[in-house]
Amino acid sequence: MNKALRQAVIAGNWKMNKTRPEAKALISELIPLVKDAGCGVVICVPYTNLETALDATKGTNIKVGAENCHWAESGAFTGEISAAMLAEMGVEYVVIGHSERRQYFGETDVTVNKRVRAALNAGLKVILCVGELLEQRESGITEEIVGMQTKVALGGVTKEELKNIIIAYEPVWAIGTGKTATAEQANEVNHYIRTVVEKLYDKEAADGITIQYGGSMNAKNADELTAQPDVDGGLIGGASLKAPDFAAIVAAASK
Ligand code: 13P
Repeated sequence: MNKALRQAVIAGNWKMNKTRPEAKALISELIPLVKDAGCGVVICVPYTNLETALDATKGTNIKVGAENCHWAESGAFTGEISAAMLAEMGVEYVVIGHSERRQYFGETDVTVNKRVRAALNAGLKVILCVGELLEQRESGITEEIVGMQTKVALGGVTKEELKNIIIAYEPVWAIGTGKTATAEQANEVNHYIRTVVEKLYDKEAADGITIQYGGSMNAKNADELTAQPDVDGGLIGGASLKAPDFAAIVAAASK
């Protein structure tokens, strides 16, 4: 399958980090470092930083995303934020189904699907996260888990809508642990996800979809990971909080 048919995207997931002044400072440092990127550059930031990030990135090649959204348009859902609210602000991307949401906040494949559909309906681009736990990898069921997560999350999503979805393969055991999947492991699962997309849609859809790797990707290992045929960039946690590190990963994916 041909890498030239799709765009590599490096997305930062800031998680629950950075106050507004800190966000502004990080973005100012990042802008000149990534201005000539040969890949897509996205920063997904806490809700409280969205306005700051949108202002600070105006006229640059950095796109802004949120880290989650609710499936309803509005209503009695205390503490939640709708996709329409994000879209109205000018936010372009939203991360959905991150393993931390699944692990700590009861997110399931079904609620992930509801959120994906709401985000697409609101005109947002989705970074859909899938990935297996360590026990699941050790039991040899990585493909079953990741395949099911992908299939349920994409339920009701048309081939046309799929163009607004990036899938991020993030093995849970590699997130924030410093344990990166080897380039071969990352490529193997990314390739498997592409075959799932081909079965659900067709070859054109599978060739065109951006599938990132995420989990302890850093300035040192980004070259090898992003060079893999089925790894189209990455979703970066810790290393996205330091401008030079994030920029080095962007440079690796630009090659
Ligand atoms: P780390 O890069 O900190 O391992 O986090 C990965 C991640 O969860 C990105 O969404």
